[in-house]
Amino acid sequence: MKIVCLIIGFILATVVVSDPNINFNWGNNAGNIGYDKVVLPIKVLVAPTIGRTYYYALQCNFLGDDRSAIYMGIQPREPGKNLVIFSTFGTGTDSEHSQCVRGADGGSGTSCSVQYNWNLNELYYVSMQRVYMNVTHQSWEGYIVTEQGQSVLVGRFSVPSTRRGLQAGSYFFDEYFPFNGASKDPTKRKCIEYTKLSITAPLASFNNQWYPSTPTKIRVDTGKDSCAVYWNQNNARATETFLNGIYSYDLENGFLPPIPK
Ligand SMILES: *[C@@H]1O[C@H](CO)[C@@H](O)[C@H](O)[C@H]1NC(C)=O
Repeated sequence: MKIVCLIIGFILATVVVSDPNINFNWGNNAGNIGYDKVVLPIKVLVAPTIGRTYYYALQCNFLGDDRSAIYMGIQPREPGKNLVIFSTFGTGTDSEHSQCVRGADGGSGTSCSVQYNWNLNELYYVSMQRVYMNVTHQSWEGYIVTEQGQSVLVGRFSVPSTRRGLQAGSYFFDEYFPFNGASKDPTKRKCIEYTKLSITAPLASFNNQWYPSTPTKIRVDTGKDSCAVYWNQNNARATETFLNGIYSYDLENGFLPPIPK
């Protein structure tokens, strides 16, 4: 796990990432109005079903605290089943749901998760929203929603009100978990399994007014494996579609052929 500082426009944000293979920074033209909801449309076409491999997630930072990310995403696990995770880092957080536990990624915070039956090639919305706020606390809920509108609550937690709303920038990452404990030398890392997913630019909202995001930075050269080194190419790629003013991407990892023996 490492701390990376990103310059998003003229906003400085601190995010915690662990060797994502593809990552996007998104900006929002409406600026720092303090969003109270963010939604990521995601459709996974191919994913390994051998336990913990990928984590496809969206992360946002709060206006009032650069170190307290809130994030949510999907981990494919086994055929027809994934784990949906909704978490926050930082101090002063509290679980407000039985699917949530204290601590997030080994640090302070709160983390919620639910095992979820899903289908490949179907669209889901990963959604984080503020549902309550008083002088000291604000409560956030995370949902996974089908295209038909059936939603499942992943969890609910409170964070300090001093964090205010969400920043205009968000961060999508496609992380390959087994590399967290692996060698930092890419030539010693196994070649990753193939995955393909399609994401649409996150939508942020404030008081039910929606604002689409635009990509400000896309990286496909992080978290390299031995195939990437051998073939001298990235083992990740992002293919852009721009339709009706909305950006979408097909993302792939692990497409390089195996290294000949
Ligand atoms: C504010 O909200 C928190 C968390 O829901 C609650 O514990 C606290 O009692 C509330 N404070 C007031 C003044 O209502």
